Amino acid sequence: RPRVLSAMQPTGASLHLGNYLGALRQWVALQDTHDALYCVVDLHALTVQVDPADLRDRSRRTAAQYLAAGVDPERASLFLQSHVPEHTELAWVLSCLTGFGEASRMTQFKDKSQRHGSEATNVGLFTYPVLMAADILLYDTERVPVGDDQRQHLELTRDLAQRFNGRYGRTFVVPQAHLPSATARVADLQDPTAKMSKSAASTAGLVDLMDDPKVVAKKIRSAVTDTGREVVHDRAAKPGVTNLLDIHSALSGEGVAELEARFAGRGYGDLKKEVADVVVAALDPVRTRTLELLDDPAQLDALLADGAERARGIAGDVLARVRERVGLLPAA
Ligand code: TYM
Repeated sequence: RPRVLSAMQPTGASLHLGNYLGALRQWVALQDTHDALYCVVDLHALTVQVDPADLRDRSRRTAAQYLAAGVDPERASLFLQSHVPEHTELAWVLSCLTGFGEASRMTQFKDKSQRHGSEATNVGLFTYPVLMAADILLYDTERVPVGDDQRQHLELTRDLAQRFNGRYGRTFVVPQAHLPSATARVADLQDPTAKMSKSAASTAGLVDLMDDPKVVAKKIRSAVTDTGREVVHDRAAKPGVTNLLDIHSALSGEGVAELEARFAGRGYGDLKKEVADVVVAALDPVRTRTLELLDDPAQLDALLADGAERARGIAGDVLARVRERVGLLPAA
């Protein structure tokens, strides 16, 4: 079975609707047809200063949310990045193949370093995409289900794999991004030209998977819509309505054209009300299940330990190949 791997950062209090529709739902679908590995990238989370107790909580919560959303530990391996030290070792080797200019051109790094200023920007933020490339290449990964904002990092990963293969002989599988067609970039409800993001200044435009159903409904009812009153899908002219239609369609399975027809002559208020119902119906079971799973951290930790053991089996083989190729002597 072809291999799929993906990961999320345990930053922010919880995952959000963008993470869910952009990536997590694809993970669940792909585990049926692929050999799946899903990782919580706790080392990546260290690039922003985080309280150690919070990091522990968030790592468990992220893993619990994967499971609650439908990742099945019988079919997919679930693990923490820091439990597989091969990731950081491969990241070092890959960093020696990465151009300084190349890394400087990563738009997420440019955005973040501009926002914080260069003194407050740490080197981990700069080499972040190289560690991500290691996460992927360490498992001979063929497909990487992610949202649109990870596309450039995936391109870098492919470039590094090809560069390594060119220099040292065929070693890595060159992975492909797997993006959902309509929800690769779920927009912020308050600013529909921006993506829904954990680092947004306000949480009013973000549906958190742990939000109470009443809060979810309120956020959607308060979503910024566009001028006019017609419910039509038009990303340029009506980004707010388009975002709501895409969210509805992705969760209800109803086509966008059918939704437009059904809401013809009705206002934005009706649309929002229905989107709120659809989102609550989808997310409330995820929230409830997450809370149940968090009640038994020992079981969660045991699952993560199993996942890490399986991951290390694969990662160890690939890393041994890399060490040999680049000329590192085996320990006698
Ligand atoms: P992260 O933690 O920021 O986001 C996790 C996943 O959610 C997707 N996503 C979105 N999709 C649609 N609309 C949105 N508004 C939205 N916001 C986030 C992201 O594209 C991502 O798929 N660098 C990665 C984590 C990572 C990784 C990896 C991913 C580390 N190693 C290896 C894949 C493979 C990140 O920060 O994602």
